[in-house]
Amino acid sequence: MRGLGTRGGVAPFTIKVLLSKPSEQSAARAGYPAPMTTPAPTKASLAAVEAALSEPGVSGSRPAPGHDTVLVLDFGAQYAQLIARRVRECHVFSEVVPCDVDPDTVRAHDARALILSGGPRSVYEPGAPALDPRLLELGIPVLGLCYGQQAMARVLGGRVEPTGVREYGRTALRAQPEGSLLFGDLPSEQVVWMSHGDTVTAAPPGARVVASTDASPVAGFEDPGRGLYGVQFHPEVAHTERGMDLFKNFLYEAAGCRPNWTSVSIIEEQEAAVRARVGDGHVLCALSGGVDSSVAALLVHRAVGDKLTCVFVDTGLLRHGEAAQVEETFRRDFKVNLVHVKAADRFLERLAGVTDPEVKRKAIGNEFIRVFEEVAKEHGDARYLVQGTLYPDVVESGGRRNATIKSHHNVGGLPEHMDLELIEPLRLLFKDEVRRVGTELGLPEDVVQRQPFPGPGLAVRIVGEVTGERLETLRAADRIALEEIRRAGLDHELWQWFAVLPAVRTVGVMGDGRTYAYPIVLRAVTSQDAMTADFARLPWEVLERISTRVVGEVPGVNRVAYDITSKPPGTIEWE
Ligand code: XMP
Repeated sequence: MRGLGTRGGVAPFTIKVLLSKPSEQSAARAGYPAPMTTPAPTKASLAAVEAALSEPGVSGSRPAPGHDTVLVLDFGAQYAQLIARRVRECHVFSEVVPCDVDPDTVRAHDARALILSGGPRSVYEPGAPALDPRLLELGIPVLGLCYGQQAMARVLGGRVEPTGVREYGRTALRAQPEGSLLFGDLPSEQVVWMSHGDTVTAAPPGARVVASTDASPVAGFEDPGRGLYGVQFHPEVAHTERGMDLFKNFLYEAAGCRPNWTSVSIIEEQEAAVRARVGDGHVLCALSGGVDSSVAALLVHRAVGDKLTCVFVDTGLLRHGEAAQVEETFRRDFKVNLVHVKAADRFLERLAGVTDPEVKRKAIGNEFIRVFEEVAKEHGDARYLVQGTLYPDVVESGGRRNATIKSHHNVGGLPEHMDLELIEPLRLLFKDEVRRVGTELGLPEDVVQRQPFPGPGLAVRIVGEVTGERLETLRAADRIALEEIRRAGLDHELWQWFAVLPAVRTVGVMGDGRTYAYPIVLRAVTSQDAMTADFARLPWEVLERISTRVVGEVPGVNRVAYDITSKPPGTIEWE
């Protein structure tokens, strides 16, 4: 699988400011997360994240005092971030930390509770991550999930065994709500999501069994006196019907957390933090029109007003109507100082004769930096640069400024000689939180819900040379696809959908005449995180409408094909 940001060696900064990220919609999609293909962050990377998030002045790093913090200990689960997201959906701030976090660090966070994530190992395996027993004696409640529950049971003197029966997927759970803190207000029969081989067969001494399934005699235990709780299933996964209620019970009842982490509080705190940091300084923001840079820009604008200048580089490679919308939203509606650089000709010139996808990406990336630097020079007094870096970017990039796992295009990567300090007001936030903040700030819905879009724009959806004419052809077909999918009400089910213009021509017949023109390929995928994707099973009628309209309305196109390749082996984009 290709690393997203490594393509063509486009400078990370460039891609970031050009547009939205591949993770664009992941957080918006509640539900069962993607298969286990996303590399789990390593302990080292998570430790680095911790360090990065603690860096004073990086942005508004920690939430303001007044919020309770719950730490999710990552035992190698692909769901650790999802757990933190769920906690935040309960309006309690949560962060992911390595499973070997030491008790002093937990105290330094002033954590109100710990949640131990699942993990892929068996607690008996040599080298499997162990639970530090001191974490259970901090006097704060602990909830173990799956591996986390087993790790707890083991440390506390319970029994964990490989029963030989794997439970995977939807599973019927029998709870004993009476007197139970986790299950007290939940039905005694419910469906939960399981994924485990080992099972807790005896609860730790002093703990009470509060739930079971056919294969798991101890699917839930509680020791409220010591604040220790464990469940075998995954409440963070949407298939666990009452998962959110279980989290609420733990957070509010067991841990006494206050549900005050909200969009409004995020906005107020970030605004204050940015204002305090920037003072009278001049701030630049590279605006792409994507949701992250838009929300980051508006937050900073609230804080510093006219001291912010947004730079929108119109590469001419955007989708229909997007450039106009940036103008309208930022300059007209929000009265933001906006430098709109209409650079389409420059980019087309750079792309003349270029057909190799990697060379294309590089050319666009380099040109972007050049344009941005020119504008920055005119604002020589600027001291700060706003970036829409999100929490998952920080986690996936190991918290370092010049990132590793995906040589990420989202964290850091600013040309050093520009010497601008980064302001990253979204650094603590997940995508769904950013969208909610965007809505709260009054951003139009189609910006808040915008699809991911590659840095090099439509250029990587035109196979072969990018010319003005070919861009127009693609943009017209793409617009029809956008309209028809929306009209069919499918936009919320799809991760991305767009048109591609290949470099071959095919024969057709229109009226009485033979045509020899280009096909348009339609791509529509479902995905959780863009690491894997499936082609969408679009209804025939929708495909038919798109095909009829594209061939009828777009000059130079005589055929429409639908891409039925999943990722892997395909990628979402064609180049
Ligand atoms: P692929 O084509 O690798 O794309 O399956 C995965 C996701 O990443 C987006 N993408 C990019 N995003 N800069 C970006 O910010 C890029 O250069 C880039 N290339 C692909 C793509 O749209 C999909 O969501």
